[in-house]
Amino acid sequence: MSSEIEHMDCSQDDFYKNAQEYWAEIPPTVDGMLGGFSSISEKDIKGSKLLLRQLFRLNKPPGNKYALDCGAGIGRVTKHLLIDLFENVDLVEQNSNFIAKAKAYIGTEGTGRLCNLYSTGLQSFKPDPGKYDVIWMQWVLGHLTDSDLVECFNNCKAALKPDGVIIVKENITSSGTIEMDKNDSSFTRPISLLKKLFDEAGLNCFKQHKQHDFPKCLYPVYMFVLRPKSEGLDKDETEPPNKVIRNNEVEELVCLTSKSGSSEVGSKENGQPHESENN
Ligand SMILES: C[S@@+](CC[C@H](N)C(=O)[O-])C[C@H]1O[C@@H](n2cnc3c(N)ncnc32)[C@H](O)[C@@H]1O
Repeated sequence: MSSEIEHMDCSQDDFYKNAQEYWAEIPPTVDGMLGGFSSISEKDIKGSKLLLRQLFRLNKPPGNKYALDCGAGIGRVTKHLLIDLFENVDLVEQNSNFIAKAKAYIGTEGTGRLCNLYSTGLQSFKPDPGKYDVIWMQWVLGHLTDSDLVECFNNCKAALKPDGVIIVKENITSSGTIEMDKNDSSFTRPISLLKKLFDEAGLNCFKQHKQHDFPKCLYPVYMFVLRPKSEGLDKDETEPPNKVIRNNEVEELVCLTSKSGSSEVGSKENGQPHESENN
């Protein structure tokens, strides 16, 4: 499998600087966060809620005290998903303009639960050890190089409470190869590479769901639920015990198709929902 370095024609510093410059020009709105696809936000949140509900029904569920929203933008995921389900939520986001907007966007109902707003890149963020029940990482991991992503996963792994989980929700290439988007300076990875990086960081992926009902023109989006390998696998009430999802194995739960019945996918290359070049 090719390394991401082969797809970069700039230095690592420029890779991060170019992304900062891209996001500095983006308005602090839901449409800005989703690359013009604000219309998918509701379905996205619905799929995420279904997943979290499943996790809370595990034999050893994550707690509901503290969540971390990584690459949070203006706090779309926090406002619509995390703030109602967790007593405390922290945000980490590299763009200070988005962070500044987050409190107002999330609104007064959420402000009592909103705790720390960290204005820094994930490549240099070290969360407090043992603090979080759930760490949510959505549409941001394509902005990290492979080695920084593994380090970030390692830091997040150390920041989990017992029974805590990391949830990754990202675009996936259908080509099986890594694809670079020079416009926003990000990568979209194939599932096999993401799985390899989970493994390198000592994380087990014990659930993998495809997000349904996104427009056909977009890339597939998957949710992965990760736990430290050292914790062993959960005896999941909803699945056969000790089931590990392997590379390219896809678990599509009927409940995630929701009530609409259609089952398409979508996302953008790295970062935000993107139109797929494969369609
Ligand atoms: C597509 S938006 C997604 C925002 C949010 N996760 C959501 O789903 O609404 C990507 C976000 O990642 C942020 N970002 C980009 N590079 C980052 C980095 N290295 N560390 C932390 N955040 C980053 C951007 O500023 C932007 O807010």
